[in-house]
Amino acid sequence: MSDSPQTAPPGAPAGSSPIHAPRPSPQDSGLNLKPSGRMPAALHLDSEPGARTIGETRVENAVFSCRGVDVFYGSKHAVKNVSLDIGSKQVLAMIGPSGCGKSTFLRCLNRMNDTIPGARVSGEICLEGQDIHGPEQDVVRLRARVGMVFQKPNPFPKSIYDNVAYGPRLHGLAGSRAALDDLVCSSLQRAGLWDEVKDRLSQIGTGLSGGQQQRLCIARTIAVQPEVILMDEPCSALDPIATARIEDLIAELSKSFAIVIVTHSMQQAARVSDRTAYFHLGSLVEVGETNRIFTNPGHRLTEDYITGRFG
Ligand SMILES: Nc1ncnc2c1ncn2[C@@H]1O[C@H](COP(=O)(O)OP(=O)(O)O)[C@@H](O)[C@H]1O
Ligand SMILES: [Mg+2]
Repeated sequence: MSDSPQTAPPGAPAGSSPIHAPRPSPQDSGLNLKPSGRMPAALHLDSEPGARTIGETRVENAVFSCRGVDVFYGSKHAVKNVSLDIGSKQVLAMIGPSGCGKSTFLRCLNRMNDTIPGARVSGEICLEGQDIHGPEQDVVRLRARVGMVFQKPNPFPKSIYDNVAYGPRLHGLAGSRAALDDLVCSSLQRAGLWDEVKDRLSQIGTGLSGGQQQRLCIARTIAVQPEVILMDEPCSALDPIATARIEDLIAELSKSFAIVIVTHSMQQAARVSDRTAYFHLGSLVEVGETNRIFTNPGHRLTEDYITGRFG
């Protein structure tokens, strides 16, 4: 007999369940499942106002809890009634066809949509129990607590040292030059870049290779001691070796931070994440333990996407 829990999906390695939340049965989602357990592909979520996400939207030890989040760009409804928790020290992968609202939802988490003219966000988004839209919320501080790494590495046109020191200086995190030096060094070490740059900290950050620039951006993000790191397709501009380094880094960083990564690569989602969320036309169709999503998806749309039938 296998010693894996009875709830483990077929094909999941024993003891591989990083999710501790109780798993509601698919029927709890309120969806009318076919005997196969999968939703018909024809289900159009727009026309099903009662349709809710399949899977475990909630987790224990949530850093973020999002309830009923909608985003509009003018009249364009880009994110539709999404409820989703993000677990502490976990990696959540967001997948789905282009234009399904992944980046838009990601930007809700540190209020980056505030910077987009015409964007309107509603619903409740709590970080450690605090409403991020609350009147007491300091958005600059929020963006330090919830850092972001973009598709294209975007170091400042400053020295490597100053790129990493920027946030700690802005937020007054280092009391002395020695403390700042330590913080720059430890951030570069944690980002796996220290050995490559320690002898040229005064050189310009934009002079590094693409993969090094992305690790510099990660060092800059972690230098302000965030709780969550958002990554929007962080490897799509990188070669396979640089990508592998970032993936290793994600595994290492998830020991300290919650990470939300948008990726177009199913293999990457499967390699780096604990949970996977599948979006379609602005709706969160399904979310669950990554092994389960890839071995036993509960919705035909998820299955069609992960098996490459569309996307
Ligand atoms: N700044 C914007 N203004 C208007 N529409 C936008 C803007 N950004 C995204 N959208 C639209 O919102 C939808 C979701 O986009 P996005 O979140 O970028 O999707 P994804 O990241 O999944 O590819 C798309 O239809 C896109 O065209
Ligand atoms: Mg995107």
